[in-house]
Amino acid sequence: MQVLVTGGLGYIGSHTSVLLLEKGYDLVIVDDLSNSNEKVIENISQITSKVPVFEKIDLKDKESVSKLFNNYDFDGIIHFAAHKSVNESVNYPDKYFKNNVGSLENIIYEIQKLKKPMNFIFSSSCTVYGQADSMPINEGFELKKAESPYGQSKRKCEEILENFHKAGHNFKNITLRYFNPIGAHPTSLIGELPIGIPENLVPYITQTAVGKRDHLTVFGNDYDTNDGTCVRDYIHIMDLAEVHITCLEKLMNIKDNSFFNVYNVGTGKGTSVLELINLFENVNQLKLNYKIGKRRDGDVVIAYADTSKIKNELNWTTKYSLENALKTAWNWELNINKNE
Ligand code: NAD
Ligand code: WQD
Repeated sequence: MQVLVTGGLGYIGSHTSVLLLEKGYDLVIVDDLSNSNEKVIENISQITSKVPVFEKIDLKDKESVSKLFNNYDFDGIIHFAAHKSVNESVNYPDKYFKNNVGSLENIIYEIQKLKKPMNFIFSSSCTVYGQADSMPINEGFELKKAESPYGQSKRKCEEILENFHKAGHNFKNITLRYFNPIGAHPTSLIGELPIGIPENLVPYITQTAVGKRDHLTVFGNDYDTNDGTCVRDYIHIMDLAEVHITCLEKLMNIKDNSFFNVYNVGTGKGTSVLELINLFENVNQLKLNYKIGKRRDGDVVIAYADTSKIKNELNWTTKYSLENALKTAWNWELNINKNE
C-alpha cells in the first residue's frame, strides 16, 4: 500500500510517517521544507530502519502536483501540509488561503481524474469551533466564524472536501479536528521544531526551561476558569499519529466508493495553563520562570473535546498520559539543544 504523506517532515507528519513505516506502508513524503528540514528524513530512517521516498514539492504548484500523481499510484493520502501560525495568518491572510486552500485544490483536482476511489485524511483543527457555547465540544456543534485567517482556511478546506464528497466523486474522506498536540517521539529523534519564537505553549515552556527564553508569559489569569487561566485539551503526539493509522485502515476497509466523516481528536480532558506548568515542573523536576501577563487577543477561554464519536465509531482512544507528553517534550528540547 502506497501512501502519500504531505507535510510529512513537519511535526505531526513526521510522527505519523514513523508509525506508517513501522506498519509496513510504502511512503512518499512530500514537503517543500517551508517549516521543516531535510534532516528529519534521516531521523525517521534512524527510528524505523526504513528510508521513505521524499519529494521536495511545493503543493501550491499545480504542475508539480500533476507530475506527482502521474509518477505514483497512491492508495491513500494524508494531507498535513499547511501553514499553521495563527499570528502570521493575521498579517498575511493571502499566504494562508493560497497555501492551505490552494494546495488542497490542486490535490483534489488530481484525485478527480483517478479511476479508483481515494482514501483521504485531512488535518483540520479545533479552531473551527471558535469559542463553543458549552463543553465538551462535539462534532455536531455549530462552527463559529473563525477568529483568524488560518482558522478560516481550515474551514474552507473542510467545505471543499464535503462538497467534493457530495458531488459523488470516488472519494473516501475522514477529516480530523485535532485539539492541542504536544510531546515528542520517545527516542527524542523527532519532535516539534518551531521556527523563531514559538507561539504555542509547550515549546515556549521547554525553550524557557532550557534557557533560550528568559521567561514564559501566561496570557491572562482573570478568565472564568478554576484558576483563571485558559483551558485546553492537550493530546500526546504519539496518540495523534496513531489515529491516522486507524482512520486510514478504516477507509481502506470501506467497500463503498464514497465516504465522509469528521472526528474530534483529543483526550476529552481540559487542562489549564497553570496546571500544565505545574505538571511540567513536577514531572521534569525543575522550576519554570513564568510571569502572569495580559490576555492574548483571539484566545478562546476553554476548549476540550467530546471524544465519544471516534471512540464509538472507530474504537479509538488515547493511550499516552499528559505526564509522558511533557516528559518527552522536555527530552526533545534537551536533545535539540545538545545538537545545536
Ligand atoms: P508543521 O508546520 O510542523 O508541518 C507542516 C509541514 O507542511 C511542514 O513540514 C511544511 O514544510 C509543509 N508544507 C507547508 N506548506 C507546504 C506546501 N505548499 N507544499 C509542501 N509542503 C508544505 O505543522 P504540524 O503541526 O505538523 O501540522 C500539520 C497539520 O495539522 C497542518 O495542516 C495544521 O494546520 C494541522 N493542525 C496542527 C495543529 C498543531 O497544533 N500543530 C493543530 C491542529 C491542526
Ligand atoms: C495554549 C494556551 C494560551 C503561549 C493554537 C491554534 C489552534 C491550534 C492549536 C492549529 C492558551 C496559553 C500560550 C504562551 C500562554 N493549532 N499560552 N503563553 O491557542 O489553543 O491553539 O494551537 O490548528 O488553531 O490557535 O494553543 O499552544 O498557542 O496556547 O499563556 O506563551 O496557552 O493563551 O491558553 P491554542 P497555544
